[in-house]
Amino acid sequence: MKQRIHLPGYRRDDVEVDPPYLYPDYASTQTRAPKQPLVILPHTLTEVTGPVYGHDRIGELDHDLTRQHEGEPLGERIILHGRVLDGDGRPVRNTLIEIWQANAAGRYHHVVDRHPAPLDPNFTGAGRCITDDEGRYRFITIKPGAYPWKNHPNAWRSAHIHVSLLGPAFATRLVTQMYFPGDPLFYQDPIFNSVRDPEHRGLMICEFDLSETVPEWALAYHFDIYLRGREATPMESE
Ligand SMILES: [Fe+2]
Repeated sequence: MKQRIHLPGYRRDDVEVDPPYLYPDYASTQTRAPKQPLVILPHTLTEVTGPVYGHDRIGELDHDLTRQHEGEPLGERIILHGRVLDGDGRPVRNTLIEIWQANAAGRYHHVVDRHPAPLDPNFTGAGRCITDDEGRYRFITIKPGAYPWKNHPNAWRSAHIHVSLLGPAFATRLVTQMYFPGDPLFYQDPIFNSVRDPEHRGLMICEFDLSETVPEWALAYHFDIYLRGREATPMESE
């Protein structure tokens, strides 16, 4: 007799909150958005369990993007910190959070970045850390510059930091971009505006945080991140 296995599942993406695959103002979505309706696959054991990352894989300075080279990078040093929470507001502990970003001049340390701005030999622009028991994370980095892209005439990306959260399992992985308050480029940035609800867009903007700002050293910004929560109703699979 065939044995039935009951597996917990994770809540699916919120289609009202997340940007659509096709957003015509963001030109490259016109070629890469799926043309057919998506096929929703059931979560299997692989998605609802691993991968799990241990502390031993994270280097001591992985969270400090200003100390990964001989000298200090140029630009405005900042502290970026916050908490990772699940859809029910509970801290997501011991989870991998990764960031990547342009340098202070708006250039990525990447071969395909041809923006005629200087590379910084002391800045790679990638960091990672593991959240603590309260779901907290903390990075030291440099405020990224705006950079041009060819989406539309005179198009510039709002300053942003890319963020990846693994969450408790691969099915909960979230990749997003974090923005800075008061950026004058928001109104013409179709990636930012592809999140259609202004309230939801606001959730991608960090807040200046004087309480964590270190005198004579660095401004702090606070950014909490919410992953989807664990669905109470288990899925069934055969
Ligand atoms: Fe970017």
